[in-house]
Amino acid sequence: MSKKTSADSGSSKFLPVEPFDIIVFGGSGDLALRKLMPALYHRWQDQQIPATSKIIGSARTKMSSEEYRQLVRDKFEEFYPDDKLEEDTWNAFAEHIHYVGVDALDQKSSDWDDLKELLAGSDEKLRIYYLALPPGIYGQVSANVDANGLKTDHTRIVLEKPIGSDLDSAREVNDSVGEVFEEDKIFRIDHYLGKETVQNLLILRFANSLLEPVWNSRHIDHVQITVAETVPAGERASYYDKAGALRDMVQNHLLQLLCLVAMEPPIDLEADSVRAEKIKVLKSLRKIDSGTVRADTVRGQYKEGSVKGKPQKGYAEEVGNPTDTETFTALKVHIDNWRWSETPFYIRTGKCMSGRWSEIVIQFKSVDHLMLAPESGRVQPSRLIIRLQPDEGVKLMLMTKDPGPGGMRLRYVPLNLSYAETFAPRYPDAYERLLMAVVRNNLGLFMHRDEVEAAWRWVDSILDAWSRDDMPVHLYTAGTDGPVQASVLLDRDGREWF
Ligand code: NDP
Ligand code: BG6
Repeated sequence: MSKKTSADSGSSKFLPVEPFDIIVFGGSGDLALRKLMPALYHRWQDQQIPATSKIIGSARTKMSSEEYRQLVRDKFEEFYPDDKLEEDTWNAFAEHIHYVGVDALDQKSSDWDDLKELLAGSDEKLRIYYLALPPGIYGQVSANVDANGLKTDHTRIVLEKPIGSDLDSAREVNDSVGEVFEEDKIFRIDHYLGKETVQNLLILRFANSLLEPVWNSRHIDHVQITVAETVPAGERASYYDKAGALRDMVQNHLLQLLCLVAMEPPIDLEADSVRAEKIKVLKSLRKIDSGTVRADTVRGQYKEGSVKGKPQKGYAEEVGNPTDTETFTALKVHIDNWRWSETPFYIRTGKCMSGRWSEIVIQFKSVDHLMLAPESGRVQPSRLIIRLQPDEGVKLMLMTKDPGPGGMRLRYVPLNLSYAETFAPRYPDAYERLLMAVVRNNLGLFMHRDEVEAAWRWVDSILDAWSRDDMPVHLYTAGTDGPVQASVLLDRDGREWF
């Protein structure tokens, strides 16, 4: 029987944060209604948000605060049918929700006065602008906030991904927002950094003396990072078709995971210390160029198939025209530093795959000498599997003797830590945790501009090589795990995806 202790949950006590006002630009959009507002509701429900806080949605569409509250509620119920709103809690929360209709690109609009009125007298309170807006307008909106006298000494700004679509455009965004806000007031979200199991990576690595001595090329054969999704991409084609899997997922989420697996121990968990170590990893990534791009990268696009028993159109059909945007990519990545020079990292991500799972697999080397007779069975190398979602957990695969009288027979079995069995039933999701981290000024969970730009520098060289080499996009059937070329990538090295 598994035991759940109150200390296990970590979430049994939520310390209230300081009062704040949050203004969500793009408050009527998908992100705000599907993720941000429900996240704030849950933090309210756990009494973490003080009652003097204000939650202000804003977009161009005109509506009253009452209509907006209803919209937030309707969407909550639509997106989370199993998560019943508590009536009293909702009513109390809703009193703090307001809405202001303003075109954030129109600096001269008199609608800004409505926002000023709502924020009057709050200059000493923490103020957070969350830009859940179409990418590309962050700089101008920052300038308009400032020009309207709405930036105080206690203002922070949150930027959603994507920050640019290549190094140059990312620099433009960072420069333009940087003209208004100091770097330590800018919170660039990568929601993977808010996931419980991702945060646990540092603890797993650095709070267990067992692991650190073997966490290097001498003992680790290779690392695999997979973020597989079942959802299609075609519904977001206006964005996705210009982005593709490399920009949408690898430049941010997968590289962040890779950094956390590969980085040196930071001296503490302060933002500067953690970010400095991640930047060193990003700078050590071996450039993939025309000479290596065909051997080390794979591009795929899903064609018609069925995902979990549901018929699925091909991506090009969804988009409505032929397109060579990749919905899947797999890469072999080398980190040229002391710790990792001999250990390849294989990473892959795709839409419309056979299942939804995100996993980091650390494959250790085989034992040097076998003293067992061949009939005992195959000795497999130890493998550490860190499951990020769903069914979060950590599994260490080890060889054991099969119990019983059958002699020395081997079995490969897991030592299993399942979050569902060990910890509290519900812990805050990534956006809940990250929103509270903004209030607490915990910049370590957000990306510094140098990280974003270092990641783009590496990704740009791949994009460049793809375009110069006319890199083919291999079709894969929706509901499978990518094109066969992704298996060949590992097969050539005598390995396979787990
Ligand atoms: P939507 O298109 O659903 O929403 C965009 C929002 O911005 C709407 O509320 C829109 O309302 C508002 N808006 C657009 N232009 C202006 C303007 N000039 N002034 C004020 N409001 C404006 O987009 P998403 O919510 O999906 O995405 C928002 C951002 O978050 C994007 O940058 C996206 O890349 C990023 N993101 C989204 C994720 C998601 O899960 N949805 C995940 C990760 C990142 P109106 O038209 O009324 O002005
Ligand atoms: C977003 C990408 O950043 O992450 C989406 O733009 C992707 O394409 C999503 O679906 C995946 O996030 P999660 O938390 O569902 O794994």
